[in-house]
Amino acid sequence: MSKSLSILCIGAGYVGGPTMAMIARHCPEHRVTVVDIDAARIRAWQSDVLPIYEPGLKEVVQASLGRNLFFSTDIAGGIAQADIIFVSVSTPTKLFGEGAGRAADLQYWERTAREILTHATKDVVVVEKSTLPVRTAEAMERILRAGRPGIHFEVVSNPEFLAEGTAVHDLLSPDRVLIGGHDTAAGRQAVAAIADLYAHWVPRDRILTTSLWSSELSKLAANAFLAQRISSINSLSALCERTEADITEVARAIGMDRRIGPRFLNASVGFGGSCFRKDILNLVYLCEHYGLHEVAAYWEQVVRMNDYQEDRFVHRMITAMFNTIAGKRIAVFGFAFKADTGDTRESPAIRVCERLAQERAQLVVTDPQALDNARQELAARQVPAEFEADPCEAARGAHAIAVLTEWAEYEKLDYRRIFADMTKPAFLFDGRNRLNHPELHAIGFNVYPIGKPPLTHL
Ligand code: NAD
Ligand code: UGA
Repeated sequence: MSKSLSILCIGAGYVGGPTMAMIARHCPEHRVTVVDIDAARIRAWQSDVLPIYEPGLKEVVQASLGRNLFFSTDIAGGIAQADIIFVSVSTPTKLFGEGAGRAADLQYWERTAREILTHATKDVVVVEKSTLPVRTAEAMERILRAGRPGIHFEVVSNPEFLAEGTAVHDLLSPDRVLIGGHDTAAGRQAVAAIADLYAHWVPRDRILTTSLWSSELSKLAANAFLAQRISSINSLSALCERTEADITEVARAIGMDRRIGPRFLNASVGFGGSCFRKDILNLVYLCEHYGLHEVAAYWEQVVRMNDYQEDRFVHRMITAMFNTIAGKRIAVFGFAFKADTGDTRESPAIRVCERLAQERAQLVVTDPQALDNARQELAARQVPAEFEADPCEAARGAHAIAVLTEWAEYEKLDYRRIFADMTKPAFLFDGRNRLNHPELHAIGFNVYPIGKPPLTHL
């Protein structure tokens, strides 16, 4: 058994909590502590009701909680003890000053670097877990090496590739673990120390080591490629709607080409989540910074196409419903950015609801896990809406249902009963293409899927 290490993670969010719980579970000889400035979040990690909804996570946390997994607000104390510090704080899009709307806001990141500098008591490996612009490690190193000559700080990059809703599976069986470091003796030693942690449960051939800069860029590149696939299929969904081609059939046909592959080709109302948009805009900003304007424009189009898809969805609703939705009750089925999470950050539902409210529709939002977050998102934008846990109640008296999240439970609802309680003609706009459209049509709905001809009675 290897030497017992004190591992700290700064940032107890969607990444910090699950990744550290997985490390603690598989490395019982190490002590893992997760710290955060948000005391309520820390209390929630220690309780029966975790601060995030993620299938299977509670069992993983509880397996180690209080044994070798601890959550705390004592950031200074944690740093003082740590041999390895993962930094997993938020890196949102900057909303002010230079680079506003595109660049990464690194204030939380830099604050963490300064905290580490102040409180470290021994040599420490600092691991970039957050998604960061290329060459951020350089800035981190400059800060860390500025003030504590007796202490060696080695910075490595270990970006996280988990997706929400499948975080436990993704952490347990990752396609790869990426670790980037300097090609120096200290750099190689630090990379090996991080690789050894993962090797407790990840096969060595899936642990990839690269230079720091390749590792930082690979994270942005992976998200850009994934989002690009969605924008590509969504762009074609618009063409399908004009030509009576069917986007599901097209996706299947192209996805059977092994060079293309079948995954991530589901046309939708648009991609959401805290990262795709911000990471692509960050990539765009970086390209602009280096004078690569054509490259920047290429990637920016992925985000523009997503905005277009969200707007197009609303436009289709309005035109289908006789060019006016003012005063009409619309049931929004799902507010989370995807199924199996309560996360609503950058959810397409936000923009769709804003647009519908601008048209003076009366919104009633339902979601099995994200109602509290939905309430906060819409209140922050002064979008009036009702909130209803039961989708059948949400649809009562509604002129239309807009399905914005692919929750499995929406496939099992009694649509015959729902239809009976709705205002006629009743519309259903499926922004996820998960429902049985011919069946809904047979019940009486006017059904508008994404990228397919509508099934109407009008
Ligand atoms: P999050 O907002 O859920 O969590 C970040 C946490 O950091 C918050 O709890 C916040 O209070 C804390 N924090 C901020 N400043 C701090 C400080 N100075 N000291 C201590 N704590 C501080 O964010 P997240 O979704 O976990 O994302 C974290 C990073 O991981 C981001 O860079 C993101 O791009 C990246 N990432 C996220 C995902 C995902 O699925 N959410 C996946 C891969 C990578
Ligand atoms: C994504 C990546 O998949 C992760 O690898 C990455 O670590 C993470 O971003 C991150 O850096 O934060 P996540 O955003 O949690 O994970 O979820 P995804 O499954 O990628 O879905 C993103 C959005 O795309 C969702 O709104 C989803 O509904 C949408 N989507 C996905 C589609 O519209 N069509 C698809 O075929 C797939």
